[in-house]
Amino acid sequence: MSIQLRFDATGVDWDEAAAIFEKAPLGTRHPKTLEQAFTRSSLVCFAWDGEILVAIGHALSDGILHSVIYDLCMLPEYQRQGLGSRMLEAILTRLNTPNCVLWSVPGKENFYARHDFRPMLTAMARFENPAKSAVQGYIKP
Ligand SMILES: CC(C)(COP(=O)(O)OP(=O)(O)OC[C@H]1O[C@@H](n2cnc3c(N)ncnc32)[C@H](O)[C@@H]1OP(=O)(O)O)[C@@H](O)C(=O)NCCC(=O)NCCS
Repeated sequence: MSIQLRFDATGVDWDEAAAIFEKAPLGTRHPKTLEQAFTRSSLVCFAWDGEILVAIGHALSDGILHSVIYDLCMLPEYQRQGLGSRMLEAILTRLNTPNCVLWSVPGKENFYARHDFRPMLTAMARFENPAKSAVQGYIKP
């Protein structure tokens, strides 16, 4: 696969990034919000097919113990070809923390399980809209 991974946001059009987020589908993010969230993150990862941005992801880390991966997603036509695995492993290698957490989209747990993530038994979340998050399958009603 000739897709290149880059770990800086140089050249990223945030309208395109937001379109990837929506088409993946992972929901809707305003391009400016996405830009702010990514540029304030400890680590960003972008996949480029030539000049075309095809996948995004970012992470927060304390650099010592803990990291959290967010928003790994790609255009549908690039899914199920190994790109997500490549990005996830590249992100984990660069984070290099002994502990890393994320919350999977419901139904994608097996993808993360293949990369040694295990279901958490005591994870707790305080979301902006708990009712919506419950409908989406992230938390108990
Ligand atoms: C979830 C996501 C990031 C995974 O990335 P991906 O590139 O599709 O992942 P991979 O191709 O590495 O692996 C996905 C599956 O395709 C399979 N696969 C990989 N290469 C393959 C190939 N050449 N042919 C057929 N299947 C293949 C893998 O075995 C894997 O199966 P699994 O899901 O049962 O584990 C991506 O599908 C995506 O963006 N989905 C929509 C947004 C989303 O849900 N993001 C997750 C946020 S938590």
